[in-house]
Amino acid sequence: MKILLTGGAGFIGSHTAVALIENGFDPVIVDDFRNSEPFVIENIEKIVGKKITYYSLNIGNKEGVKNILQRENPVGVIHFAADKAVNESVLNPMKYYQNNVLNLINFLEVIDQMNINSFVFSSSCTVYGVPDKIPVNESALIKPAFSPYGYTKQVGERILTDFFKTKNKSSLTLLRYFNPIGAHPSGLIGELPIGVPSNLVPYITQAGIGKRKKLTVFGKDYDTKDGTCVRDYIHVVDLANAHVAALKKGLKRKDSIKTYNVGTGKGASVLDVIKAFEKVSQQGLNYEFGPRRAGDVPKIYSDNFLIKNELAWHPKFSLEDCLEHAWKWEKNLFNFKYKSEKKQD
Ligand code: UD1
Repeated sequence: MKILLTGGAGFIGSHTAVALIENGFDPVIVDDFRNSEPFVIENIEKIVGKKITYYSLNIGNKEGVKNILQRENPVGVIHFAADKAVNESVLNPMKYYQNNVLNLINFLEVIDQMNINSFVFSSSCTVYGVPDKIPVNESALIKPAFSPYGYTKQVGERILTDFFKTKNKSSLTLLRYFNPIGAHPSGLIGELPIGVPSNLVPYITQAGIGKRKKLTVFGKDYDTKDGTCVRDYIHVVDLANAHVAALKKGLKRKDSIKTYNVGTGKGASVLDVIKAFEKVSQQGLNYEFGPRRAGDVPKIYSDNFLIKNELAWHPKFSLEDCLEHAWKWEKNLFNFKYKSEKKQD
């Protein structure tokens, strides 16, 4: 069974392509490589031991997408293609509205004429803003978004919900990710931040290998166990498996819309993540405390009861596994050829 993966060469998309193949599906990747590299496709192929079908295209290109859909005839879609840097979205909001919203609408106009049985959307816990209650569950209030990026996830959920309400042969699953980290245990695929990473784990591994001088921990006076922010860090392979579980269930359901948190259900502080890195890398990390980062939520982690109960999905990897795999990936990166130097600032 063919499954279309928009943004399938990205961090979560590439791991989901592997998980789909391991589960007997046939992924078809459409990606414009704005935030990926052609070697990612080669490395997916190395992991799974077979060729992958992929197209280098932006999903806003209606004619191109239509041709691909007619040729491949997928039964399901997993939609990852989007920009995801919170800071960048504040500085350049139109890029986010264009790619995450307008291109989504263009894409839906094309799939409107196709029979897509199961559609899975890449959403984020960012839709909850500062939650009133932790762990946060799926029925928590959606708060005004902090950033244009967060707003595009809220709007994306709404557009898709309205679209799929009118379809009686398709199902929609919205997956709200907590903090995806780690890399494939093989060290062949992982996260490829452009320039200086804004996310914690790529920054840590880059500081560990010497690409960055030191990590700044943003804030040490939060009302948490050690004063640093708490997040729910989920291994990207566990997250990829959640997509497969959601897709499979969606293929059996018809005419329904489901929303699931994807997290471990456990909170870890910034210092916990640093400690896990120091343990698996067997080296100290150079870090200092700095001021709080604007817009950071002090503490958030998931209530993951629903996805465990309804999709029989369970996270398997620990925080240390996450850091061990991210570190292996970082050490491997120099082996891979980038199409441009800019990605490796
Ligand atoms: C952000 C997004 C989230 C997205 C995730 C992964 C929001 C509110 N959050 O999460 O939707 O899924 O990125 O792309 O939009 N930290 C440091 N020093 C650093 C970097 C980070 O101390 O150099 C701290 C942060 O203050 C935070 C934690 O590490 O407490 C995690 O930060 P980060 O990896 O950027 O993820 P989030 O901001 O939680």
